Amino acid sequence: MNSVLKSLSTEDLTNELNIAKARFEQLKAANLSLDITRGKPGTDQVALSNRLDGILNGDFIAHESKIDSRNYGNFDGLPEAKKLVAPLLGVLPTEVFIGGNSSLSLMYHTIAFATFFGVPNGIAPWGKGAKIIAIVPGYDRHFTLTAELGLELISVPMTAEGPDMDMVEELVKDPTVKGIWCVPKYSNPTGNTYSAKVVDRLAKLGKIATSDFRIIWDNAYEVHHLVQNGDQLTNIMELSRTYGTEDSVLIYGSMSKITFAGAAFAYTGMSPTNLKWFSKHMSMITVGDDKVNQLRHVRMFKDLSDIEMHMQQHAKIINPKFEAFYKVFDQELKDLSYATWTMPNGGYFISVDLINGCASKVVSLAASAGLKLTPAGATFPYGKDPEDKNVRIAPTYPPLTEVEQAAKLFAVCIKVVSLEEELGQR
Ligand SMILES: Cc1ncc(COP(=O)(O)O)c(C=O)c1O
Repeated sequence: MNSVLKSLSTEDLTNELNIAKARFEQLKAANLSLDITRGKPGTDQVALSNRLDGILNGDFIAHESKIDSRNYGNFDGLPEAKKLVAPLLGVLPTEVFIGGNSSLSLMYHTIAFATFFGVPNGIAPWGKGAKIIAIVPGYDRHFTLTAELGLELISVPMTAEGPDMDMVEELVKDPTVKGIWCVPKYSNPTGNTYSAKVVDRLAKLGKIATSDFRIIWDNAYEVHHLVQNGDQLTNIMELSRTYGTEDSVLIYGSMSKITFAGAAFAYTGMSPTNLKWFSKHMSMITVGDDKVNQLRHVRMFKDLSDIEMHMQQHAKIINPKFEAFYKVFDQELKDLSYATWTMPNGGYFISVDLINGCASKVVSLAASAGLKLTPAGATFPYGKDPEDKNVRIAPTYPPLTEVEQAAKLFAVCIKVVSLEEELGQR
């Protein structure tokens, strides 16, 4: 990893460090206030959906089902909205539940129900002692919610094709392993999409795992391409049906990063058996979701191809921010082996791996100069990156010029810390 650093003489290293430190002080003096921590859409992205405001124009009745969106009823969602999002989940409209504004909340509820009550065909509630597989680096909120519910997380590394499936297949032979978190497309933070082979092996897990094992398939970025002809993800529900394992798959998504973040609607796709179970427990929590907002979305998007066209507008706005980041990193760090970074075809994140032991130091050095980065370790269960090397970058929210400044400051911090680390070892 740090072969370039190793090849430099101590004198050269010291010179390089002095140059990097001088640049750092210069950037610090600019009193920057930059934040690339969370994967939020930018203001111009959410503005792409401004026509949701007023789109109903007094017509609150869903045109096909004739349901009055203003009233109670149809607590699992408007049939028209289910039809719209079913292809995003890769399930049938009858397998969709629409609920709330956040897919994370649907996932939390699912795991809480499983923990307290057990899942269909389960032996008992998952309860304390249950273990969930976490693919690392991964999405911090998956890990924190699992830990909050008292379940244990077991890390499995992400490979270029998806989770290390040899490890996963071995782990699920243990009946206390009840689930696996997956962000199968443009994964958070690595940006890769699971290969067809990996999805096939995942779909077969239901044959070797305990009957109450569940794949929590958080497909948050199904249509969030940054490039033309983005990645294709194999439909896990279709495959599972062919293996008779459809009860092991739970799929999630939301309109948050399609229209208004946190002010759209979330959805889940499940086998009829799981859906009945989930709906029963949800009916204790809510009388129903905001169907008026669902109807707004149905009026805005006729079908999947409308959504895809809309997502191209998002890509036009955010792709330049990713490109700006790569350009700075290429200029500053290419061929230096201080860092490697992902260049995903979609999603919201860039994952940067540093020299082992450097991530926390880089994050705090950057903070001292006004750049907020996701805390080191956040992409691992319990906030502990065993190699202290991964940093997640979210370039979508700040304006382009700020992304450039942030990338430059981040790169200079990486240089300072990497050079200090190498000198400290001599
Ligand atoms: C993988 C993943 N899942 C879920 C979410 C949150 O989605 P929602 O707004 O639907 O809760 C995010 C947000 O960053 C995410 O990256």
